[in-house]
Amino acid sequence: MVDPLGPVLTANWGQDRAWTYDAYVDQGGYDGLRAAVALDPDAVIQMVKDSNLRGRGGAGFPTGMKWGFLPPLGDKPRYLVVNADESEPGTCKDIPLMMASPHTLVEGVIISSYAIRARHAFIYVRGEVLHVVRRLQQAVAEAYAEGYLGENILGSGYDLDIIVHAGAGAYICGEETALLDSLEGRRGQPRLRPPFPAVAGLYASPTVINNVESIASVPAIIANGPDWFSSMGTEKSKGHVIYSLSGHVTNPGQYEAPLGITLRELLDLAGGVREGHQLKFWHPGGSSTPLLTAEHLDAPLDFEGMVAVGSILGTRALSIFDETVCVVRCALRWTEFYKHESCGKCTPCREGTWWLVQILERLEKGDGSEEDLETLLDLTDNIAGRAFCALADGAAAPIQSSIKHFRDEYLAHFEHHGCPFDPAAAQLFP
Ligand code: NAI
Repeated sequence: MVDPLGPVLTANWGQDRAWTYDAYVDQGGYDGLRAAVALDPDAVIQMVKDSNLRGRGGAGFPTGMKWGFLPPLGDKPRYLVVNADESEPGTCKDIPLMMASPHTLVEGVIISSYAIRARHAFIYVRGEVLHVVRRLQQAVAEAYAEGYLGENILGSGYDLDIIVHAGAGAYICGEETALLDSLEGRRGQPRLRPPFPAVAGLYASPTVINNVESIASVPAIIANGPDWFSSMGTEKSKGHVIYSLSGHVTNPGQYEAPLGITLRELLDLAGGVREGHQLKFWHPGGSSTPLLTAEHLDAPLDFEGMVAVGSILGTRALSIFDETVCVVRCALRWTEFYKHESCGKCTPCREGTWWLVQILERLEKGDGSEEDLETLLDLTDNIAGRAFCALADGAAAPIQSSIKHFRDEYLAHFEHHGCPFDPAAAQLFP
């Protein structure tokens, strides 16, 4: 039994050669799979439902419910696809997880595929992280050699193959339907939903797509039971998650803790904001989530707690910015990213992000006017919720929230005829 208060997903990260099969098995690895194949697949789905595990990719959709949306078994095969295309700015949890403990993911894939009766599973990894691809390939090869993959897994009669697929490094391919297009060999662009992948996904077959951390959470749920998992966290947001802290923080990195912890508590664990400075603003889940300020340090980091303060939990990529940072420059940098990564399929996102950058450039240089601020807000209103996927919403959120919390700072740029901040002071590594 895992210590309910201790780390779960990161428990063996500090161990020597933690990524090897031997090290994983020493820590009880593959016990969850043994328990799962002794059960009926539907019983495994029920355990995941009972655990109240919610998707760890950002949206928090209930994992067991998603599995339950698959239509009854028919002529078409079912697929499991793991979204390992972690790309949201500031987000750095799945990549360390796959590097430190790839077998946790492999075991999770086997259990989840067994539960949904998939014969093939794909792990779609972000293209730039070749080291992760190699590590996963090694773990998959070890799992085949040990009889956990291939035919008649552990004598259960169940067969599964895992394919590790490297993307080409496009942010949009983390959007689940663009990921499917890319996996099918096409240019990655979002599809209109519905139909959701659960009904028509990879090769138009029923497909479950889950984030790495969601799938990696499954072995411990099966090994320790759904009650163990749901005893952690808050009323509607259960379990442990990985928070990644970056930016102006003394000890950046990954911190595993139950949902509902606060940023104040996480900063205590991470040595606080860099010495001699104060927190100015932060994101709870990467740059596509609305910014918050020091006023929100005690808000619970769970799905409901973040909505209550006007943001969303997202990927739990807590990017910390101190008082040396110009929020207008940040908004411009994030927007340039979204403009660059917009796939161009739909007009509000393709044209809108371009215009957002034009206006923000003007504002940041101090050449704009108060009217520009209104145009900017109007534009974000016409982009968010009007595009094929969430990329446009993500581009709008940091602009809207930065104006909400720091309108005076935008105005100071006009008065100053330029940025009032010294860029050298904001350096992370001066
Ligand atoms: P969503 O809320 O539309 O969907 C979430 C999941 O639930 C999807 O798998 C979807 O297929 C499923 N789903 C929702 N309604 C369903 C229904 N009626 N029937 C069957 N399945 C259903 O969210 P979306 O657009 O997939 O993801 C947005 C999130 O992605 C944001 O919250 C953001 O934080 C996160 N994100 C994460 C990134 C990363 O690098 N991890 C990058 C960019 C965004």
